[in-house]
Amino acid sequence: MTESTIQSRTDSSTDTSPSTTTGESEEQVRDEWTDYEFDGAPKLCVEDLDVYYGDDHALKGVSMDIPEESVTALVGPSGCGKSTFLRCLNRMNDRITSATVEGSVELDGDEVYQDGVNLVELRKRVGMVFQAPNPFPKSIRDNIAYGPRKHGDIDDGLLDRLLGRADTEKEDELVERSLKQAALWKEVSDRLDDNALGLSGGQQQRLCIGRCLAVDPEVILMDEPASALDPIATAKIEDLIHDLAEEYTVVIVTHNMQQAARISDQTAVFLTGGELVEYGDTDQIFENPNSQRVEDYITGKFG
Ligand SMILES: Nc1ncnc2c1ncn2[C@@H]1O[C@H](COP(=O)(O)OP(=O)(O)OP(=O)(O)O)[C@@H](O)[C@H]1O
Ligand SMILES: [Mg+2]
Repeated sequence: MTESTIQSRTDSSTDTSPSTTTGESEEQVRDEWTDYEFDGAPKLCVEDLDVYYGDDHALKGVSMDIPEESVTALVGPSGCGKSTFLRCLNRMNDRITSATVEGSVELDGDEVYQDGVNLVELRKRVGMVFQAPNPFPKSIRDNIAYGPRKHGDIDDGLLDRLLGRADTEKEDELVERSLKQAALWKEVSDRLDDNALGLSGGQQQRLCIGRCLAVDPEVILMDEPASALDPIATAKIEDLIHDLAEEYTVVIVTHNMQQAARISDQTAVFLTGGELVEYGDTDQIFENPNSQRVEDYITGKFG
């Protein structure tokens, strides 16, 4: 590039047209690329979210609305802030002392970051499933019943509501219902008192999903839930996520582009630097992205 070209570029401050060739482009992010419109009310509204770890600016001015009863995929290269973003949605970053969160997250229109929010209740409504299955070293039954027992749900009427009636076998029914929802019941119904650590990795992950469902969440956050699993176990988790979206709002981080394309309704692409670059209908993002950097990333040219 000649000096005069550089000069003319610098002068035209309104020129935000993206460079078009490589993943190293100086492309400017455009607001309209993240302006995803959908029918119905958003379950979560994120506005101008910034996260710092000490002086490191990990997430930069992220705004996005997440529709209910659907699957939203978050993709992007390692370190771009996907897990950080996910943790903001149920204030898990509060546990990281160096983390500062600025901006707004609304759940059904109520600010998650206002004073006085009951974090136990919030994390019950917005549950989380992690990359590595993390069952408690307890029986399969106790893993599922742990949350409802802790929240006092066995006695407070939630089970009556979930099961449609009250009786003395409520806990057993909740365990069965949750394991069926997690597509694990058939494999474990005859060994509910065995230690959960004796299950395979894929079974453990479905148990963790069942544990999350047992407290009647509204939103399920999943951080690479199938990355440690073989293709058969992965397919089971994908089927399960698809079914869960009929009733729940699922937000899932994945490094697997095919998986994002298969299971999600909308996709958000974060790129290095902690920016949300493009957010839209999954078909549009994968077939016709606006951003050259997004196209390069999803076609595997960088990232
Ligand atoms: N607890 C923490 N303390 C300090 N810095 C952190 C912490 N967690 C994340 N970071 C930094 O914030 C940035 C974003 O990290 P994050 O884990 O959100 O990325 P990610 O997109 O989930 O990456 P990956 O795909 O590898 O899981 C990185 O630079 C990371 O080093
Ligand atoms: Mg991560």
